Amino acid sequence: TIQTDAGLRTPIVAVLGHVDHGKTSLLDKVRGSAVIEGEAGAITQHIGATAVPLDVVSQVAGSLVDPEEFDLPGLLFIDTPGHHSFTTLRSRGGALADIAILVVDVNDGFQPQTEEAIRILQDSQTPFVVAANKVDTVPGWQVDEDAPIKQTYEAQSDRVRQQLDESLYSIIGELSDAGFSSDLYWRLQNFQNNIGVIPVSAKTGEGIPDLLAVLMGLAQRYMKEEMEIDVTGPGAGTILEVKEEQGFGKTLDVILYDGTVRASDTIVVGGQNGPIVTDVRALLKPRPLAEIRTEKRFEKVDELAAAAGMKIAAPDLEDAMAGAPVRVVRDRDLDDVVEEVQAELAEVAVDTGEEGIVVKADTLGSLEAMANALDEAEIPIMRAEVGDIAPRDVSMATTVDEEKHRVILGFNVDVLGDAADKAEQQDVRIFESDVIYQLVEGYEEFVEEMER
Ligand code: GTP
Ligand code: MG
Repeated sequence: TIQTDAGLRTPIVAVLGHVDHGKTSLLDKVRGSAVIEGEAGAITQHIGATAVPLDVVSQVAGSLVDPEEFDLPGLLFIDTPGHHSFTTLRSRGGALADIAILVVDVNDGFQPQTEEAIRILQDSQTPFVVAANKVDTVPGWQVDEDAPIKQTYEAQSDRVRQQLDESLYSIIGELSDAGFSSDLYWRLQNFQNNIGVIPVSAKTGEGIPDLLAVLMGLAQRYMKEEMEIDVTGPGAGTILEVKEEQGFGKTLDVILYDGTVRASDTIVVGGQNGPIVTDVRALLKPRPLAEIRTEKRFEKVDELAAAAGMKIAAPDLEDAMAGAPVRVVRDRDLDDVVEEVQAELAEVAVDTGEEGIVVKADTLGSLEAMANALDEAEIPIMRAEVGDIAPRDVSMATTVDEEKHRVILGFNVDVLGDAADKAEQQDVRIFESDVIYQLVEGYEEFVEEMER
């Protein structure tokens, strides 16, 4: 983990955007550029995240980042794979990410998941920048590998630049429609009220120096106070994923945003049926890339400090939920910590009634976002849970009085076993999507048809 004496933690940066717009490629490029800069050892791979220390940021960004001007230790990037929604990334009272990169393909512009991401950023008041990706695909583009964007942008022919400008201005227009004032980042004086748009190519590395420089600058200028933590205190984190792991049983992939976790700690974890109290059995981080073998992918460690991604193995995690909190007890009163976790779970508890639809979502955060969207649309909910759609959910959906409520909405989940057949037999409709507003709209259309 990257750490400074000042007790400033690494800002957490989430990368989000529509499927195939280049989120993973962008992170690969950041990692790759850093490795090429001869700092391979300095990049640390976390569970679900990648840490890039300040000196590496400054080497990749060249003259755009002078390390003397910064005291934040670097940046921790969270990958959000296509099948995983950014809504997972919640934490006590808000967003887990301190900053976000919204990746938009210049050829494709805004797409459903881009819009969804924007709504979530807006709701959680997360500052963000837009990476207008794939600039190298503009016909006639002259590649200048890993160059700052302004330099390579100005070196293009007028025709190429005009074509890129058209795409960039349509992105700026879409941002404006969504209620955000934005401009190309080098024209902005004030990043607090304006969104910086950074043209980049995850393929050629053009614009990557600018992206890192802008993120680092934003974090340093606007987030420094929030980064001041008790670096040795009892840890607080968010579960990214609950996963079965050979030799360990059910494990938690966690992003720690405060304090430390030790292999000897007792922790309290948010579960389906309330807080779970358990003892850490092993604290795991990935082995260095070169050593990865399927059977021994992890390395046991004694302690990890925020901000970091890690895997926690412990007993009794069957009910743990993605998006739920993890708290280290350490020298505090266990009851207080349980209460803390309980309160956080209550914060996202969904109002349910006797009559309404069944909602299933992949994480606590996405369930909360679904519930909010349904509430806005005045659609009642009978049951809301994290997890795949199971036969018992179908049974549940048959207990309603109104035909239009014999429905299950599934966000980013699978339909298990014979749940689909059972639904068909019992006349229960299942709607699935990985875009919240499409689920809500799909259901509304279904109700309209039915009432016609
Ligand atoms: P999901 O995780 O599935 O949501 O996709 P993603 O956003 O992570 O996209 P990914 O990085 O997997 O890239 C999708 C495709 O676009 C891949 O074939 C990449 O090689 C390609 N791609 C990404 N960035 C660039 C770019 O800057 N230029 C070009 N030419 N291709 C790119
Ligand atoms: Mg990806």
